[in-house]
Amino acid sequence: MATERTLSIIKPDATKRNLTGKVVSKFEDAGLRVVASKRIHLSPAQAGAFYAEHSERPFYGELVEFMSSEPVVVQVLEGENAIAKNREVMGATDPAEAAEGTIRKDFALSKGENSVHGSDSKESAEREIAFFFSGLELVG
Ligand code: PPS
Repeated sequence: MATERTLSIIKPDATKRNLTGKVVSKFEDAGLRVVASKRIHLSPAQAGAFYAEHSERPFYGELVEFMSSEPVVVQVLEGENAIAKNREVMGATDPAEAAEGTIRKDFALSKGENSVHGSDSKESAEREIAFFFSGLELVG
């Protein structure tokens, strides 16, 4: 098994409801370590750039508006198989389909307001970490 890093975002619906600590506890309980963290308020342009791969999808405008509506907490999580493990802890995109005990089952409100984002591959993780953090900000 390989030690990996992945990018996590605690989304506006979760920061607004003061769930940051509860979400981070789920990551830590699963063996993931926070090696970088910051709370930021994305502009619509920044949220749009981050989600550029979805720009042709019908929900893109709604997604950009939501992600720039309130602060988010962006983090780099490190651990064995961190990319897959993070997605397991997050649960399915749609909370109605998420497994018991996952973040989205416990906290998400809908497919859009689903509390967390996590990189879906090694390539995405590299790109998404570089989008938010410089090497100096990653402290293992
Ligand atoms: S996936 O994993 O790519 O198959 O999921 P997908 O359903 O394609 O969703 C991609 C991201 O878009 C968000 N999403 C939405 N936002 C707003 N409104 C609606 N209706 C909606 N549907 C999906 C979803 O939360 C995914 O966000 P991230 O941050 O990538 O998890």
